[in-house]
Amino acid sequence: MHAAAERETLVSVQGVVKHFPIKQGIVFKKEVARVHAVDGVDLEVRSGETVGIVGESGSGKSTLARCVTGLHPVTSGRILFEGTDITKLSGAGLKAFRKDVQMIFQDPYGSLNPRRRVGSIIGDPFAIHGLASGAERKKRVQELMELVGLNPEHYNRFPAEFSGGQRQRIGVARALAVRPKLIVCDEPVSALDVSIQAQVINLLKDLQREFGLTYIFIAHDLSVVRYVSDRVGVMYLGRIGEAAAAGDLYERPRHPYSAALLSAASIADPDEAERAERIVLIGDVPSPIDPPSGCRFHPRCPKAEERCTVDEPELEVKEGDAADHLTACHFPVEPGENLAREHAGIRQESTEPELPEVEQ
Ligand SMILES: Nc1ncnc2c1ncn2[C@@H]1O[C@H](COP(=O)(O)OP(=O)(O)OP(=O)(O)O)[C@@H](O)[C@H]1O
Ligand code: SF4
Ligand SMILES: [Mg+2]
Repeated sequence: MHAAAERETLVSVQGVVKHFPIKQGIVFKKEVARVHAVDGVDLEVRSGETVGIVGESGSGKSTLARCVTGLHPVTSGRILFEGTDITKLSGAGLKAFRKDVQMIFQDPYGSLNPRRRVGSIIGDPFAIHGLASGAERKKRVQELMELVGLNPEHYNRFPAEFSGGQRQRIGVARALAVRPKLIVCDEPVSALDVSIQAQVINLLKDLQREFGLTYIFIAHDLSVVRYVSDRVGVMYLGRIGEAAAAGDLYERPRHPYSAALLSAASIADPDEAERAERIVLIGDVPSPIDPPSGCRFHPRCPKAEERCTVDEPELEVKEGDAADHLTACHFPVEPGENLAREHAGIRQESTEPELPEVEQ
């Protein structure tokens, strides 16, 4: 993990913006607004590492993932893959890129065609990229099935005949078929039972070691993200608020949003949970159609000041932080600072039971 800093950059996301136009009108459709799904994201992914992405629902995680894999054209910005800007690719260049980058989705059932046999689903990439056919393709598909822990004899079965965890293994096998360099995993275990989650995560980790894979790993569950990631980026309303080595971020969050998100996460150790205090953010996530001015977290931020409403903070290294710990905040959380206690306007929820008031 410490070697991460010396690894080469595989993906460099530079100022990527993805807006979805909202159109109205029956004949002449006119753009009336835009969803600012991804609104200026910078992110580096190094070869062989796992970069986790966390953030509330609607923060733009999947949209970013789809931009990186070339499934969405970007509105603006650049995405360099091994130094080549993939937003400008077409023809043979695009085809080669599509082989190097694969995606695993949340819903292992919805992403598999129920009417097709598993062997042909996993074999698709061989056909698309003209890599193997006939008996050779079958042999390679069965090798892949074995690699991901599926019975190769189940080659002719349909997706419905597999359990949720097995279906996600089918998705992993299909992604691996063309020996990609990068796999973007969008909530790959969120739909699975906890016991099955661990098996799929460990499979992904083993495959990473064996094939030197690079992952972008999106998940709601902060403990899952910490377990799998070398580095983590925290997204809020289309932007990265903080990015750092996983341990650093979880132990010393500097962005008030990261601190709130982490304080709300379930703590496995009961002793620690008893001491912990949850920061409860006030208000809903604002609409991505009209994001707040300045720092877009300011309407909910316990540390917000006048400046935050007009001046958008840059994602940068703050004093005292590691060189790869970046925070976009004018007034970052100081080590030992207790946001819940020290700032008015924020409710604090203690995990300790409330004691009744005793009259003196
Ligand atoms: N194809 C689309 N057309 C219009 N708006 C879209 C489209 N895809 C996503 N959005 C909007 O962009 C914003 C970001 O969505 P996205 O799916 O990227 O969020 P997310 O962080 O992946 O959320 P979740 O955790 O729920 O999966 C949301 O407001 C969503 O409604
Ligand atoms: S810039 Fe201001 S509003 Fe934004 S997170 Fe920092 S303190 Fe809060
Ligand atoms: Mg999503």
